[in-house]
Amino acid sequence: MTKRICIIGAGPSGLAVLRAFESARRQGVEIPELVCYEKQDDWGGLWHYTWRTGLDAHGEPVHGSMYRYLWSNGPKECLEFADYPFEEHFGRPIPSYPPRAVLHDYIIGRVEKSGVRRYIQFQTPVRWVEYHEDADNFSVTVHDHNNDEVDTETFDYVFVASGHFSTPNVPYFPGVEVFPGRVLHAHDFRDACEFSGKRLLVVGSSYSAEDIASQCYKYGAESITFSYRSAALEFDWPESFSSKPLLTHLDGKTAHFKDGSAVEVDAIILCTGYLHHFPFLPDDLRLRTNNRLYPLNLYKGVFWEANPRLVYIGMQDQYYTFNMFDAQAWYARDVILGRMQLPEADTMAADIKKWRALEEALEDPFQAIDFQTEYTRDLLAATDYPTLDVDRIAELFKEWEHHKVEDIMGFRDRSYPSTLTGNMAPVHHTPWLQAMDDSLAAFLGDAEGETPPAAGSQ
Ligand SMILES: Cc1cc2nc3c(=O)[nH]c(=O)nc-3n(C[C@H](O)[C@H](O)[C@H](O)COP(=O)(O)OP(=O)(O)OC[C@H]3O[C@@H](n4cnc5c(N)ncnc54)[C@H](O)[C@@H]3O)c2cc1C
Ligand SMILES: NC(=O)c1ccc[n+]([C@@H]2O[C@H](COP(=O)([O-])OP(=O)(O)OC[C@H]3O[C@@H](n4cnc5c(N)ncnc54)[C@H](OP(=O)(O)O)[C@@H]3O)[C@@H](O)[C@H]2O)c1
Repeated sequence: MTKRICIIGAGPSGLAVLRAFESARRQGVEIPELVCYEKQDDWGGLWHYTWRTGLDAHGEPVHGSMYRYLWSNGPKECLEFADYPFEEHFGRPIPSYPPRAVLHDYIIGRVEKSGVRRYIQFQTPVRWVEYHEDADNFSVTVHDHNNDEVDTETFDYVFVASGHFSTPNVPYFPGVEVFPGRVLHAHDFRDACEFSGKRLLVVGSSYSAEDIASQCYKYGAESITFSYRSAALEFDWPESFSSKPLLTHLDGKTAHFKDGSAVEVDAIILCTGYLHHFPFLPDDLRLRTNNRLYPLNLYKGVFWEANPRLVYIGMQDQYYTFNMFDAQAWYARDVILGRMQLPEADTMAADIKKWRALEEALEDPFQAIDFQTEYTRDLLAATDYPTLDVDRIAELFKEWEHHKVEDIMGFRDRSYPSTLTGNMAPVHHTPWLQAMDDSLAAFLGDAEGETPPAAGSQ
C-alpha cells in the first residue's frame, strides 16, 4: 500500500518538503502520497503577509509576525535556493537586501514552477496528532474551515513544519497593566508609522528589537530606548537611541530600569522572542526547546529521536534559512525513500550529544555561523541537492556581521555576489534609510515608485 505523509504547514519549511519529494517524483521515483495541511488561506508561511493580529477570520491565532516595510535582515545570497537562483526568477541580478514582497515572490515562484500546490489543503489547521504503536501509524485530526468539518486521517509519517516565530513570549513587568499607551509584542507589530513622533521603549536585544527599532526610527519615532536582559545591542546607533538594562517596572509613563535610571515613554514594544508551541502534539511527540542552534532530541536536527517517523523541519535558530530547510527536507526524504538508513538509537543519541556539545561551546556569532554551516554541509553531503557553496555563504554571513557593525542604518546598501552564478548584486537605486516604499514594483524599478520590468520567469 502507498505510504502516506502528512506535512503540517506550507511555509518555507513545509514547501521544502513538498519540493524535495516532487523533485524525486519528476525523476521517475515512486513517492508516498503527500498531504499538506495549512492553517492560512495561502502559502508562504510568515512571508504571506497579513494585516490581521490576534485571531484570524476563523478564530485561529494569527500566524503572521511580519510587518510592513520589512526588508531582509541578511543578504539574499545566503538564503538562495541552490535549484532556483534569484536571477532565474527575476530574469536579472537584483540587490542583496530585498523587502518582504520580493522574497515572497521568489519563494512562491519556485513552488509554482514545481506544481506542488495540489498537495496543500488551505484553511485547515491541524488540531491533534497521535501515534498508534500497534499499527505503527499516526492519526491526524484537522479542522477544515472550507466546509467547517473536523476530520481524522491516518499517515505513516508526519512532518512538523509549523514554524517557531509565531507564538509570542510575553514577560510581565509590574505597572504594565495601567501603562497609558500602546503595549504590544513584536508578533503584533505591523506599521512603524503608528509610532511616528513617539518615544518608544523596545524590550529585547536580538533581531526583532534591532529591526523594529531601526524601522521606527526610519518612519519618524522621536526616540528609542532599548532595554536588554543579557547584553546590549552593540551598534553605532543614531543619537535618538539609548540603551538601558532590564526594565523593572512602570509607573505611569515612566519606565524604571535595573540600574536605577528612568525614562518617560509613549509606547512599548516587547521584542522578547517566541515560544516553540505545538498545541497539536502530545507530550511524547512534542519538541520542547528554546530558540537555539541545536535543539535536543532531534537526530540530524530533524528526526524525532524517540520515533523517527516524526520529522521536524526548521526548528533551529536561524542564520541559514531557506537552503537549510531544503537540506533538511532532502535528507529526510532520502531516509523515507529508503536511500539511507537511520542508525541504531544509541548512535543517534551519541550524534545528538556531539552536536549539542559543539553548540554549547560556541563563543560568538562567527563561531555560530561556522556551526550552522557545518550542520548544513553535513546534511547536503548525503543527498542529491544541487551543489551549494556553504563556505562562501559562511564568508558572506561574516561580511554581513562586519557591515552591520560598520553602519547599522546602512548595511542594507551593500551588495554581495551570488554563490550560484558568481554575479555581483547591483546596488539598490535608493539607500535603505530613504527607501520608504517597500513594494516589489518600487524595489525592481530603476527609481523608487517606477514600474519594473516583468518580474521573473513565471
Ligand atoms: C519578523 C520576522 C522576520 C524574518 N525575516 C527573515 C529574513 O529576512 N530572512 C530570512 O531568511 N528569514 C527571516 N525570518 C525567519 C523565518 O523563520 C523563515 O524565513 C521562514 O519563514 C521559516 O519558515 P517555516 O516554514 O519554518 O515557518 P513559517 O514561515 O512560520 O511557516 C509555518 C507555516 O505553518 C502553518 N501552521 C502553523 N500551525 C499550523 C497548524 N496547526 N496546522 C496547519 N498549519 C499550521 C502556518 O500557518 C505557516 O504557514 C524572519 C522571521 C520573523 C519572525
Ligand atoms: N527584517 C528581518 O528580517 C527580521 C526582523 C525581525 C526578526 N527577524 C527574525 O525573527 C527571528 C526571531 O527574532 P527575535 O529577535 O524575535 O527573537 P530571538 O532572536 O529569539 O530573541 C529574543 C530576545 O528576547 C529577549 N528576551 C526573552 N525573554 C525576555 C525577558 N523575559 N525579558 C527581557 N528580554 C527577554 C532575549 O534576551 P536574552 O538575550 O537575554 O535571551 C532576546 O534578546 C529571527 O530569526 C530573526 O532573524 C528578522
